[in-house]
Amino acid sequence: VARLDHKVAIVTGGAKGLGAADARLLSEAGARVVITDIDVESGEAVARQLGPSVTFLKHDVRSELEWQSIVAAVVQSHGGIDILVNNAGVVRFGTPVTVDMKDFQFIMETSVNGTVLGCKYVIPVMTERGGGSIINMASIASVQGEPYVAAYCAAKGAVESYTRATAVFCAQNRSKIRCNSIHPAAIDTPMVRSAGELAAAAGMQGLLENDRASLSNPIGAPEDVAHLVVYLASDESMFTSGQRFIVDNTASVTAGAVPGDSSVATL
Ligand SMILES: NC(=O)c1ccc[n+]([C@@H]2O[C@H](COP(=O)([O-])OP(=O)(O)OC[C@H]3O[C@@H](n4cnc5c(N)ncnc54)[C@H](O)[C@@H]3O)[C@@H](O)[C@H]2O)c1
Repeated sequence: VARLDHKVAIVTGGAKGLGAADARLLSEAGARVVITDIDVESGEAVARQLGPSVTFLKHDVRSELEWQSIVAAVVQSHGGIDILVNNAGVVRFGTPVTVDMKDFQFIMETSVNGTVLGCKYVIPVMTERGGGSIINMASIASVQGEPYVAAYCAAKGAVESYTRATAVFCAQNRSKIRCNSIHPAAIDTPMVRSAGELAAAAGMQGLLENDRASLSNPIGAPEDVAHLVVYLASDESMFTSGQRFIVDNTASVTAGAVPGDSSVATL
């Protein structure tokens, strides 16, 4: 029996990067996976590539109406939901004095509203099913100060604290739903590859080039995060809830211990 046999998972932002790796490892572990994303072409391509246990639905996580219809559609097609990976997220560069409020809104709506809405509509369905696992993709940015992506830090901090509130809510209701957050440092995904361009758009070109050279830690692979997602999705993590899991190969605990500023190129 595979670790995730008979389980149904939704992975938001699953068309690329971390979400696509989560979808692959979840399906390899036996789950039926619904990838959702605003990027239809990539989402359909990933689903096709991963085989019949993986399907794609177009979904903007910022929309309450779309969450309602996605959850209803998955319950209809798959019979219920056991695993929710609130993974969709975006980043824009800006310091506490250059932050563009449109960027701030965009980041908050995607990460925070997306996560809040996912919990809101999936918890009742999981409760009916007798339990489940919610995994929220936060970031090392909620743990350490990254002044060049200040709004992103705020959004990930909100995701982290919302995870705890949700976990306690579910524990108090004895719904057998657990909720945890994952906090990766720099992982090789389209988001991180576009960081130079995004920094340049905010007038911060050169920031990452200089600091990448001094990185004490190599950039991680999406699978380094996806294996943890599989563990948190599986019954092996049944007694684990309300926690934050940092996946950073020491990046957050080396301040001052290594030459250079190893935190700068993380998102
Ligand atoms: N890559 C890293 O180093 C890193 C580090 C820490 C945290 N994270 C977080 O992990 C998550 C995934 O990051 P990634 O690096 O794979 O990013 P990515 O940009 O490579 O992929 C993100 C996916 O989310 C989708 N998306 C964006 N807005 C959406 C919306 N409104 N509705 C639905 N889908 C939407 C995009 O189309 C894309 O397919 C994000 O929440 C990110 O903040 C990434």
